[in-house]
Formats: sequence, C-alpha cells, structure tokens
Amino acid sequence: AELSLDAAAAEKGGFDHFMLKEIHEQPDSLANAIRGRLDHDIGSSVLAGMGTSPRELAELSRVVLVGCGTSLHAGLVGEYAFEDLADVHAEVEQAAEFRYRNPLLGSRDFVVAISQSGETADTLAAVREAKQKGAFVMSLCNVVGSTIARETGRGVYLHAGPEISVASTKAFTSQVAVLLMMALKLGRGRRLSRDEGIRFARDIESIPTLVSRVVAQSERISRIAEGYAQNEHAFFIGRGPMYPVALEGALKLKEISYIHAEGYHAAELKHGPIALLQEGTPVIGLALDIPGKDKTLGNIEECRARGARILGIITEGDDEAAEFMDDYIMVPKTHPLVSTVPAVVALQLFAYHVARIRGCEIDQPRNLAKSVTVE
Ligand code: G6P
Repeated sequence: AELSLDAAAAEKGGFDHFMLKEIHEQPDSLANAIRGRLDHDIGSSVLAGMGTSPRELAELSRVVLVGCGTSLHAGLVGEYAFEDLADVHAEVEQAAEFRYRNPLLGSRDFVVAISQSGETADTLAAVREAKQKGAFVMSLCNVVGSTIARETGRGVYLHAGPEISVASTKAFTSQVAVLLMMALKLGRGRRLSRDEGIRFARDIESIPTLVSRVVAQSERISRIAEGYAQNEHAFFIGRGPMYPVALEGALKLKEISYIHAEGYHAAELKHGPIALLQEGTPVIGLALDIPGKDKTLGNIEECRARGARILGIITEGDDEAAEFMDDYIMVPKTHPLVSTVPAVVALQLFAYHVARIRGCEIDQPRNLAKSVTVE
C-alpha cells in the first residue's frame, strides 16, 4: 500500500492534487499550445489543421462555437475574439441545445466544436448535425485521435498533455489561447491590419509569462481564500470578455468546493441576484483595467453598499481599483482578450485553495465525471 501511495504522489509531481499540478503546468501547456503557431512577420497565426483557404476565410459568414461545461465557457471568450478581431458574426451554443434546435447552417458557416476529451456525447452529436447540414466543421480537442477530432477531420489540438483533475484548468486556458489564434488568423484574412496583427501576436506570445506571474501568487491567494472558505454562497461578476471568466470562476468554485456560486454579467446583478446579498456575502469582481472597468467598479460599489465582501481581480498597479476591494489579486496588464487567461488562473487558484481549506476531494468531486459520454 505504501508503494502505491508513493507512486500516486510521484504522479502528482509533489503537488497534493492533480488540479494544483495542472494549474502550475499552465505556463508550459500554454507554451505548447502556442509554439510554432504564430507568424510575427505577417502578424498572423499558422494553424494548418484548420484546412481553410484564404478564399474560404474571406467568404466566411459566421462562426458557431459549440461545447459543454468549461469548454462552453472557452467558446464564450472566443465569441468576443471573433467579433473583435475578425469582424465576423459569432455565436456560442451549448452543444445539446444546438443539436435539438434545428440550427440554420450553410457552407459559409464555420462550426468549431470545443472539447478537451473529444468524447462528450452532446458535442459529438452537434458535430454530426453540423456536418449533415453542410457547414465547415472543425474541432478544438486535447485528446489526440479522440472521436470528435477524428470525425471533424480538421481542427487544432491543444497539446496540453493529459488532464486528470475532473475540474478543467489547463485545457481551458489552452482552448482560449487557440481560439485567440484562430480569431487572429480569420482577422488577418479579413479586416485586421498587419500592425494590429503583429501587436496581437506579441500579446498571445506573452501568455505563458503572464500566467506564471499569477501562479507565483498561489500562497497569497491561499491566504485570501481563508477568508472565503466558510461561506455557502458566492457571486462572480464581470463584463465583456470578463463575463465568461466570471462564469468559469463560479463553475470552478462550485465544482470542487460545493459552495453555491453563480456567475453573472455585472450589469445583470441588479435585476435579481442583488436581493440575495447580505452582510459578508462574497462577491468576486473582475475589475481589470480594460474597457468597462468603471462600470464594473460601480456595480461592485452597489454590492459593497449591501454589505458584500469583495474580492477583486484587478490589474497590477491599479491602486484606484484596489480601494474598492476587501481583498484583491493582481494580474498583469495586457490586451483585454488576452487578460482573460491570467484572470481565470487567479480564479482557479482561488477555487482550489477554498476547496482545500474545506477539506474537499478536489480531483474527483462528487457526481462529476471527467468526460460525459451520455446525453
Ligand atoms: C464534464 C467535465 C467538465 C468539462 C465538460 C466538457 O462535465 O466535468 O470539466 O468541461 O465535461 O468536457 P469536454 O471534454 O467536452 O471538454
């Protein structure tokens, strides 16, 4: 028995849980996702697996991103990127909804199926439906040779390495990185200038470094988590590309700590959830120094006035925003879309430490499976 314990510890590379190991792996897994895929001379990305001709890119009318769970949240970040960088209509659909809604699709529609495992039943069914309707279908998978990767025949692999923890961490950040590169490529085939492309490619290149600066704060985040581990409810709020980050932060916390956590658009709070705020209710506010920050700070102020305890995710050096918070975690300044990655890593660490303090299982939360192959 002792031997197998040692073996288990060795597998986790000295970390207490696979989740923590995988969080720490992100500077490397992200470097693997990005390596060789940026062309800094033309300010674009090289994603040969997409199999798109310049003409197909130019004629593309819509991008539809489908997935489930954390992969769905990555798709929501992608939606902002495709619209911002590529000037193309983008939509995100829960894969099961997509399949049963009789989606309107044609050959100028790009369907991107996002799945870490490449085996999720609903996402696979969405792929089959999209192919049936003649759309241009590609996948964004981590597991090489998985069913979705094979059936789409084109796409981009994450190269994140095996993800063991049920709660997805490194797959999510690599999904976002790849979606940003896809959007860059589409953008350069359409509206985006060379200069803008070059700047954005540089920002993508910096992601592993940005993430290592957040991972280095694990101890500090652990101390902050002490102050939130006894609560039974929490709200995560953000706007723009930080809205999906809020959803993902809430999902991480509820999955592994069993705290009832909800992610909301910051503007939506006053349309209902604010009724639940009481003295000490945690509100995690994504108030990075990107467009919309002042409005988010205003929403945070509304929560504080009702007694909420505020944990802010803010930009390094933003002392003004820090004033609004009971606690804060600082993430490096970068392009707003790129900053989703370091911001989500801060929330992964927060969820992890809260769950650890609460003595939760973490790698295998109750009722959850790593890959859901039933509807
Ligand atoms: C399950 C897992 C989630 C994952 C989702 C989609 O619910 O617990 O972590 O995000 O499936 O999985 P996929 O492999 O398709 O990304």
